[in-house]
Amino acid sequence: KYERTYFMPPECTYDWVKKDHIDTPPIWCSVDLRDGNQALIEPMSLDEKLAFFQMLVEIGFKEIEVGFPAASETEYNFMRALIERNMIPDDVTVQVLTQAREHIIKKTFEAVKGAPHAVIHLYNSTSVAQREQVFKKSKEQIKKIAVDGAILLKELADQTDGNFSFEYSPESFSGTEVDYAVEVCNAVLDVWQPKASNKAIINIPSTVENAMPHVFATQVEYINKHLKYRDAVTLSLHPHNDRGCGVATAELGVLAGADRIEGTLFGNGERTGNVDIITLAMNMYSHGVDPKLEFSNIPKIRKKYETFTRMHVDPRQPYSGDLVFTAFSGSHQDAIAKGMAWREEKKLYKWSVPYLPVDPVDVGRTYDSDVIRINSQSGRGGVNYVLKQNFGISIPEKMREEVGYLVKHVSDEEHKELSPQWVYEIFEEKYVNTQ
Ligand code: KIV
Ligand code: ZN
Repeated sequence: KYERTYFMPPECTYDWVKKDHIDTPPIWCSVDLRDGNQALIEPMSLDEKLAFFQMLVEIGFKEIEVGFPAASETEYNFMRALIERNMIPDDVTVQVLTQAREHIIKKTFEAVKGAPHAVIHLYNSTSVAQREQVFKKSKEQIKKIAVDGAILLKELADQTDGNFSFEYSPESFSGTEVDYAVEVCNAVLDVWQPKASNKAIINIPSTVENAMPHVFATQVEYINKHLKYRDAVTLSLHPHNDRGCGVATAELGVLAGADRIEGTLFGNGERTGNVDIITLAMNMYSHGVDPKLEFSNIPKIRKKYETFTRMHVDPRQPYSGDLVFTAFSGSHQDAIAKGMAWREEKKLYKWSVPYLPVDPVDVGRTYDSDVIRINSQSGRGGVNYVLKQNFGISIPEKMREEVGYLVKHVSDEEHKELSPQWVYEIFEEKYVNTQ
């Protein structure tokens, strides 16, 4: 139904773009239950987390970071509940976060005992600011924290029954010298000695987004080139959204060589949030690429999300917000109405309706209430569309302008949006009951 509708200039080479990454979705990892949850005013309860996990599974996530079990009783109990209630499908991997500290790593292994497959996600902070101000340690000392953590992870995994993989994040990467971050990641990989049959994940976070997306992509390109064991490593990104560029950062990062994205639904997460996976996935979908996540009923997902997190989705949030498919203005309404009529007349399958980036129906929205809405900015095309769609009334071409002005005038006077019923009543009063 969808294909790319933009035009590339002639003679554009884009040498740095990994062409096979354009049409292949990355591996998605939801961090809603960890990064998303840790940023909530009121963190989710055990039952809410369980229901959220179930929803993520239904959406199709195969990798889900479920928490930081050594950080709180709720997180620990949640991990245990998922395992003891057999809620983790065989094809889903749960991931848990741990700092590189002995007692925390040990508690993390206790929490995941019995999981079918778990990723133990180790992190420590590597930025100049954190090294100097928080830890007061040298580069070598910070690298040693990562390496010691990696050694302990390997030892405990060898001693514990279960199927484990490892992930390492140089936290605060965005403030870290890139060659140093690679040095630390490679030192960790030297400990883990990953194999293509059990890959390690190296996860690059823009912990605090501090650069334009092309800068991050250039960093990813460098890392992709200089990581050791590259065939045995999944290169993952974890974009935050402090400059409002999380989506662009993720997209450019994938084109520069990353294989995997950690993010959240609706971009929940610390401060301005993590990258919004719905936007990323639907951007792919609108280019004809199957993102392998099920977003055919976003309103249903949104309702659950808003209930569990007590957060609110912005009306202009791409693909999900109340107003993102709505046209109030006359020229937009006219173009949409004509585009819809053209589509019907030509029996088109490919989507090409002006002003609508995707068919609202594909994400669970309706034409009746979501697309054409009437206020004082609206025009005759919109008014005709609403009367036809809701009441089967098709106004003759010659009358449309007059009816359009009549309806606009009422909205102007009242300073209000007019419901379809109200539009009908204005029409009825003037044209139906006057005879
Ligand atoms: O944003 C971040 O750096 C993190 C790490 C723990 C991956 O959430
Ligand atoms: Zn994060």
